[in-house]
Formats: sequence, structure tokens, C-alpha cells
Amino acid sequence: MCGIVGYIGCRQAYPILIEGLKRLEYRGYDSAGVALVSGVHQLNVYKSVGKVADLERVAEKQDVSGCAGIAHTRWATHGEPSTVNAHPHCSSDGRLALVHNGIIENYAALKDKLTDKGYAFKSNTDTEVLVQLISYIQKQGELDLLTAVQLALREVVGAYAIAVIDRSHPDEIIAARKSSPLVVGIGENEFFLASDATPMVAYTSKVVYLDDGEIAVLHAGRPLRIVNLNNVECPHEAQTVAMDIGQLEKNGYPHFMLKEIYDQPDCISDCMRGRISLEAQTVTLSAVSNFREQLVGARRFIIVACGTSWHAGLIGKQLIESFCRVPVEVEYASEFRYRNPVISSDDVVIAISQSGETADTLAAIELAKEKGAFIYGICNVVGSSIARATDTGSYIHVGPEIGVASTKAFTGQVTVLALLALLLGKEKGMIPEEEYHRIVQGLAAIPGKMREVLKQDSFIADFSKMFTYARNFIYLGRGYAFPVALEGALKLKEISYIHAEGYPAAEMKHGPIALVDAEMPVVVIATQSVLYDKVLSNIQEIKARKGRVVALVTEGDTVIKKLADYCIELPETPECLSPLVTSIPLQLLAYHIAVCRGMDVDRPRNLAKSVTVE
Ligand code: AGP
Repeated sequence: MCGIVGYIGCRQAYPILIEGLKRLEYRGYDSAGVALVSGVHQLNVYKSVGKVADLERVAEKQDVSGCAGIAHTRWATHGEPSTVNAHPHCSSDGRLALVHNGIIENYAALKDKLTDKGYAFKSNTDTEVLVQLISYIQKQGELDLLTAVQLALREVVGAYAIAVIDRSHPDEIIAARKSSPLVVGIGENEFFLASDATPMVAYTSKVVYLDDGEIAVLHAGRPLRIVNLNNVECPHEAQTVAMDIGQLEKNGYPHFMLKEIYDQPDCISDCMRGRISLEAQTVTLSAVSNFREQLVGARRFIIVACGTSWHAGLIGKQLIESFCRVPVEVEYASEFRYRNPVISSDDVVIAISQSGETADTLAAIELAKEKGAFIYGICNVVGSSIARATDTGSYIHVGPEIGVASTKAFTGQVTVLALLALLLGKEKGMIPEEEYHRIVQGLAAIPGKMREVLKQDSFIADFSKMFTYARNFIYLGRGYAFPVALEGALKLKEISYIHAEGYPAAEMKHGPIALVDAEMPVVVIATQSVLYDKVLSNIQEIKARKGRVVALVTEGDTVIKKLADYCIELPETPECLSPLVTSIPLQLLAYHIAVCRGMDVDRPRNLAKSVTVE
């Protein structure tokens, strides 16, 4: 949560910082702020409640000159969203400004200590405590900023990515990280700083990802210096980020979410590129080639993830168990990390995360590592904390996902899980040859099928209007469709704020059916499967109670078409790959209902794309 941007060099910092904040708005958008230092030792700080556009309005008529600056877009943890609580926070003497992503857990004790020394605080944030602490230490020993930051951070318990500027030294930014991401971009006599690489790709492709406990000294005109809290040098090789700026734009779509839904056929082709050979009928994943013994020999898989990634994990469980005959457990990372789970060295933990920065998933990985498990990651963001914390892994390669509601990352995760399950099943000799070939071909055909499904968009947009004022929704599915039902309900909840629940269809009779009446829309995933007849009975039970049914069926289904109020026909797909097709109409349904309700689809209230705090 929260996005940080920094710039120091020969250009004007303000436009770079504002554009950077817009790229990072997915990380939080309840307030924003910027601090600029000019060569005449002036520090100007502007803040606003709301989005980056609101900050721009505040700064419009102000002095925004300066070749060094830091900026922040916030997702509130300590203190309500307000101008006072927005970052940057300044020291009482107005010399230092600091932006922070993370949580200072011992801020109350530090605040008491500083209050005793006569410090007063304007905000309710943990961040203001940190900048005052640095200022106090700096003044006590007449220290340079780097040393003051190092000493202050030794007293801090918690997670942080910070950037600090000192108006007395306008040629320097000090940045530090522990458990929250921070990337330094290296240009010609200039540096960029951000929570991810997107704000800098327009200027440089050379980046350094800071590791925990590291501090970067960005001094315009000098080489990048990275040290730890004890001032020991930490050399880093710069990496090259390959990101096309076009991937970060809406390309004519009204929202990133819609663009990302439409991106899926190409994304899934990218995800499979070089991993499936139709001529040779083979699947390859470099992680499996490099760590065959650990992955093929695993006695058990434990999938840890949150939210949508957890739903992908539920599909992964079914894929791996059916193709490999190895037990798989799927855990919420937040629960797993605190319940002393039984893990052994022949377990493989699969950590799934789009952002690669989710705090609970990262903590679950650390716990599993301590217990000796081998860790395989499935991430989207290259170079992210989770990607670097795992022993090996496979990127989903779906490109930057900006909309807060995850769409293409979900189908990318399911695709990688299908590839992994197929490959391990083949290596273990557990999947019959004919079945293996059928699924490989089925996977290769998925992008084409996704394009077919997207043709239903205007039909879905039309009937979505009927649900603008619905207050509740139920989503039902069985087998591979059950996690899709959960995912469909999550999509609707997070962007339309309509209450929605997903259930295994057969659970209806055990309680939820009491909710069904003429006011209750029920979305049923009823494509061809071994349980088709049973799902058909569920639809009849709902109709008998006057529920309104939106059914997803396989093309040519005439039976459900007669029963359902709205029927979305989908191309025939092997059942184990059906989530790649059935999830798309549910994404579109949630999107169109949210648009009808006038919601901010890409930036729903109270949410952030990257959940870097517990
Ligand atoms: C999905 O639409 C959500 N925004 C959310 O559940 C998300 O999937 C979850 O926070 C996990 O994020 P990650 O994949 O980046 O770890």
C-alpha cells in the first residue's frame, strides 16, 4: 500500500513526480503529496486529500520548481485520510521531508520519547514520528542525513520504504527499505526512485531493486551508493527492465480493468510462449528443469496466497491433484503464517501473487523457508519481493495490471498452474498420454476461445443494467467452477460494492437457499462437466423460488437456456481449463454493473492493488 516516487537530477522534478504518482495510484489513493527542494535551500510541500489529480489542483498556482523531490500517494493505516495525515511529513524545524510506505510498529513508544524531549506532532501518523526521530538524531550529533537515517532506522521496528530530503542538501535523497519495495532508476546524472519500476520506464531501463536493510544514497552527478544500517557497502549490478510504456496506458479503453479483460487472449499467449510446443507436444518450465528433484519429488504442495491469487490456488489444487496424484493444501497466507503449520523439507510451498509484494504471502514464505520447505513462486511483477524471496518460480508474463480488481493476473496464474500440473504429471508418469495431449491442445486453444467469449461483451453490458440496483448476489459453481464462483463474487463486491457470495452449488440446500426470492440474482456456472445434471437441478430449485438466474453454459445448451433469465454461451473447453473461459463473463458482468452504478472501477474505495501491510 502507498506509492513512493523520488527524483534528483537536472530536470524539473515536479512533472516527473506527478506522472510517477499517477502510475502508482493503484497502491493507494486516499491522499497525495509532494515535497520539492530547490537550489536555494527552499523546501515546498503540497498535499491534498483524494487522488493525484486533486493534488495537481492544489499545486497549480504554487511554486513547483526544483530538481529534487519526493512524492507519495497514500492508503491510510495510521490516521484517517486528511491533508494533515498525507505525506510528505516534515520535521518540526521544516528542514527534512519524508515519505513512507509501511508501518512503524513501535511508533507509539518512539513518539512518547520524542514528546518528552519537547517534540510536538501535527498528524496521527507513524511516519511523522520517523521524520522527527531522524531530525532529533541529526541535530543531537550534528550528523549528516545518511548517518541520522541509519541510526534512526536501528530504533525502528516494522516495515518501511522511505525517501528523505534535507533542504540544506538539495543535491541528495536518502532512501531505505525493509519489507516494502523500493526501486532505484539510474539515468544520466540523475536518479529515479519508486515503489515499482513503472514511474521510471519512460526515462531509463537501468534499475536496482533494493534489498531489505539497504539504504541508497542518491546524489546527482555521483555514482549510486548503497550501504546497510552499519554503513557497510552493498554492491549491486543494475538490471534492465523490459517494459513498454504502451502497456501502462489505457489504449482507448475507458478503464484499465476493461483493457485488462480484453488483454487476456494476448496475455495468455505471452504466458505460454516458449513453454508449450504444439509440434513436439511438450510443456517446459525452466523452474522444473532446474529444480526437477525438488518439484517432481515433492511429497505435498502447500499453496499460499491471498484474494484472487488464493482463488487461482484452489484451481491449482484440483489441477495438481488430478494430474500428479500428490496432495495439495491451499491456505490463506494470513492464516498460515500465524498457526504454526506442519511443514517438512519434502514439502513444496507454491506462493502465488500478482504484485509479488503482498505482506502476508511474503511472511508465509519466510515461515515455510525457516521450516525447510522448497519455495516456488508464481508472480507477475518481475523483480518483486516475493519473486526474489522464492527458491525458483515462473512469471505469468501478463504485463502490468493496473486496475485494482485483478483480471488478467488470475487467468495468467491459472495458466501457469495448468502448465505446472501437466508437466509434473508427465514427469511423474501419472497423467495418461492421451489426456496429456488433449490438455496441451486445449491450452493452446484458450486465447482463441477467450476472443470468442469477449464477443459477448455488449450482450453482457445490456443485461447488466437490470442489476444496477441489486443489493445481493449469489454465485454458484461446482468442481473447477467453484473457485470461479468465488472469484466472480469477489469481483462484483470490490468494484460495485454489492454484497455477493460464492458457494459450491450443492451447498445451497444447506442454508443459502433461504435467501433466494424474486429479488435475488443467482449466477450459475453450468458449463458441460461431470456434474452438469446436478447443477441443472440447482437451477431448477432457484427458479422454483423465483430467483433470477444468469447462467454460463456451453454453446448449444438448449435445456438451461429455457430455464435461465439470461444465458451466456461459452465455447466448449476441457473441464479442467474451463476457469480460463468462465471467469471472463463474470469479470465483464462485475465491470458493467459497477459502471452502471457510477463507481470508480479502477480505484474502488478502501482498496489498494498491492497490500504491503498486514
Ligand atoms: C483482487 O481483485 C484483489 N484486488 C485482491 O484480492 C488481490 O488478489 C490480493 O490482494 C492478492 O494480491 P497479490 O496477488 O498481488 O498478492
